[in-house]
Amino acid sequence: MGPRSGDGIGDAAAFLPYGRQVLDDEDIAAVVEVLRGDWLTTGPTVDAYEERFRDLTGAAHAVACSSGTAGLHLAALASGIAPGDRVLVPAVTFLATANAVRFVGGEVVFADVDADTGLMTPATAAAALAAATGPVTAVMPVHLTGQTVDLSTMGAVLDGRRLIEDACHALGSRYPGMAGDDVAVGACPFGGITMFSSHPVKTIATGEGGMLTTNDGELAALLRRLRNHGMTRDAGALTRPELAFDPVSGAVNPWYYEMAAPGLNYRLSDLHAALGLSQLGKLPGFIAQRRALHAHYHAGLGALGPHIRPAGLAPKGVAAWHLAVALIDFDALGVTRAAVIDGLRARGIGSQVHYLPVPWQPYYRDRYGAGDYPGAAAYYRRILSLPLYPAMTIGDVDRVLDALDAVAHGR
Ligand SMILES: Cc1ncc(COP(=O)(O)O)c(C=O)c1O
Repeated sequence: MGPRSGDGIGDAAAFLPYGRQVLDDEDIAAVVEVLRGDWLTTGPTVDAYEERFRDLTGAAHAVACSSGTAGLHLAALASGIAPGDRVLVPAVTFLATANAVRFVGGEVVFADVDADTGLMTPATAAAALAAATGPVTAVMPVHLTGQTVDLSTMGAVLDGRRLIEDACHALGSRYPGMAGDDVAVGACPFGGITMFSSHPVKTIATGEGGMLTTNDGELAALLRRLRNHGMTRDAGALTRPELAFDPVSGAVNPWYYEMAAPGLNYRLSDLHAALGLSQLGKLPGFIAQRRALHAHYHAGLGALGPHIRPAGLAPKGVAAWHLAVALIDFDALGVTRAAVIDGLRARGIGSQVHYLPVPWQPYYRDRYGAGDYPGAAAYYRRILSLPLYPAMTIGDVDRVLDALDAVAHGR
């Protein structure tokens, strides 16, 4: 089934946002089926969604949660990041990556990024580690735009540190594993936890939603406990036998649970899981279309004159492309970024900036000082994310390229 008819998606005259969900009647029917059933949350559809995610990524465990941000918080808690622990985070990412460190009392050590890709590199990570005021115990690489940080070349950076990959942008992307082999993002070839988001602009949509993958059974069990208030009913984990077990049968009392450490309610509902499961069935088609549209952008942006070009391609990995980013020398063109965004909007085209460097945010600037992130500053100065989602056509991309050409060059 294609996009829903009558919603204007794919229509040449329709507004093209920078990103949006693509839902069809099958997706809607999947959610309605759950609405008619017995389980709105903590039910079998969440289990099925997690199982499908395991199959897709090759990870041993998948734990669904209520958002990518919730997932990062859970991952930080489960990884044992404690007050005062230093954690490496790239300067260009969404707020949530760094904020997760602060939620658990950790301190963020920002790494600069490559000026053309926005990705943390072995050199920028090593420089940040060398400049840190103390030992850095965890690393949170961000696979920005769907391109991947090449962790296979970052042995010295990983070096026994806990790892949380922010793969919000990278569902369906592939990268080199431990032996330089071709691995799905989410397979966790370097250990630790990988986090995905299914916010509507991401590769699949559940409204709000997140997924954590790991190959470590103990980490997975801890993530499951933490997303549900820290509760467990697992007989092997119970520590108060006089309360826990029926004295006659020896079974766990049916009402009983224990909490070793407080958790949260970060559960994903079965409604969201039903949408996610249905969307995963369309993932191969979504990725193929994203790649085709991105390839067209890449070639077209390269032909828009000396002051506009596509963002750089990472040296390794096969991206599923969450974002199509242009690098624009606004100064040389004599036009502001706001004017370009407004001009595109007037032509029915949305665009966005991903992202203002996080250390520039008042909260982080106050806490850690201004810092010096020349790569992030150069990337940020030129970036503009253009519409990219699977319901778009190659003709839509041409329309965006024509509009950008006209607006940027004052035509
Ligand atoms: C890189 C990155 N990390 C984390 C998040 C947070 O995900 P969510 O919106 O699902 O909470 C996002 C979402 O925008 C993101 O782009």
